[in-house]
Amino acid sequence: MTENTRNTMWGGRFAEGPDAVMQAINASIAFDRRLAPQDIRGSRAHAAMLAATGILTDSDAEAIREGLITVLSEIEAGTFPFRTELEDIHMNVEARLGELIGEPARRLHTARSRNDQVATDFRLWVRDRIDAATAGLTALIRALLAQAGAGADWVMPGFTHLQTAQPVTWGHHMMAYVEMFGRDLSRLADARARMNECPLGAAALAGTSFPIDREMTARELGFDRPMANSLDAVSDRDFALEFLAAAAICAMHLSRLAEELVIWSSAQFRFVTISDRFTTGSSIMPQKKNPDAAELLRAKLGRILGATVALFTVMKGLPLAYSKDMQEDKEQVFDAADTLLVGLAAMEGMVRDLTANRAALERAAASGFSTATDLADWLVRELGLPFREAHHVTGTLVRAAEARGCDLPDLPLEAMQAVHPGITEAVYGVLGVRNSVASRTSYGGTAPVRVREQIARWKERIG
Ligand code: ARG
Repeated sequence: MTENTRNTMWGGRFAEGPDAVMQAINASIAFDRRLAPQDIRGSRAHAAMLAATGILTDSDAEAIREGLITVLSEIEAGTFPFRTELEDIHMNVEARLGELIGEPARRLHTARSRNDQVATDFRLWVRDRIDAATAGLTALIRALLAQAGAGADWVMPGFTHLQTAQPVTWGHHMMAYVEMFGRDLSRLADARARMNECPLGAAALAGTSFPIDREMTARELGFDRPMANSLDAVSDRDFALEFLAAAAICAMHLSRLAEELVIWSSAQFRFVTISDRFTTGSSIMPQKKNPDAAELLRAKLGRILGATVALFTVMKGLPLAYSKDMQEDKEQVFDAADTLLVGLAAMEGMVRDLTANRAALERAAASGFSTATDLADWLVRELGLPFREAHHVTGTLVRAAEARGCDLPDLPLEAMQAVHPGITEAVYGVLGVRNSVASRTSYGGTAPVRVREQIARWKERIG
């Protein structure tokens, strides 16, 4: 092998260049090029710190700074010459910098290793995506709040086991998702706060003998502080796992709402219409409007969870400190983050555009003996029956209504009194769905008055 097939960054102790297959398994540039902006940001902070501490001259640092700006503009313009033989984004950027500015570029790697470099770049990247997901979730919550506000007192069936259970309000149902996505927001905020420490300056694994200023680079990159242990700094990816776990939980929530949209938009339910903008047609059945976006959102958790499991599997049992296994972290996290962000945007759009069919919701709310619990509660409250007995009497009344093919409010008083003689005309007051939801005023309950309070609380929180 000739000199020029050896790696220019680490080829000194090698007599031969790598086998083509070695290059194929080793190179990460095909995917880690996405870290370019973070890599350049990290290098700029590192160079500024090296100058401030007198490790580099100001003129070298200035040449590096300007060179890195050029490199970034080449990457943004799509003219950057990515080279597989340079393995990864770190060495590609550094080599290009050398071509642009010469010798000072070769001083940039002083007091630094690719190990702390990649840990820093990746933290910056994940932090950016946490911020993007936070914005996406906030927009989705706003869309849900708008739906909830419009239909705070619209009555719909509440389900358990997907069987009609008790009437609830549309606003209450929307607000249930606001709570879920709100916890997703706080999970991301927790992960962000914990991960916001800077690995840069840990060098390969043991720190460095150069008089570096880790507080300065940490501050420069928007971290709260430098990481306190150099071995830990280069070798943990728990921050990525926390992001993936939070993303997986959020995707699970998205999939549940997506499933409801699929069910609700069917001809059998007709609770909602998903806008044309988020549905597709069939190439054979002209009448079809398929909820593809919702179906895909139902499925996307699979990818994110797969990425989570993959990264756990990579990290499990790895000895300290850095091992090349960790290069397998990126594609998983990149794909999961892309999936989450497009999913949040699609759900936000769908919810924003969604038309709830108030009449269908209210019709469905009144069917399926949905106010049976209200009837049982009335027997307890007005006739002093023990709840278990009231439950039994109500069950008998439901059976009687079913036999007549009517709903509870249509059952004649005599038929009711035949089951329990104490029942009076007043019972009909609790059998209507509006009264039913209005009565559920306990904290967290479905009564419109409570729902409106929660909408106001969230509007204050989310702005
Ligand atoms: N491309 C590598 C990664 O993503 C960068 C760190 C390589 N470090 C090393 N000592 N080979 O993990």
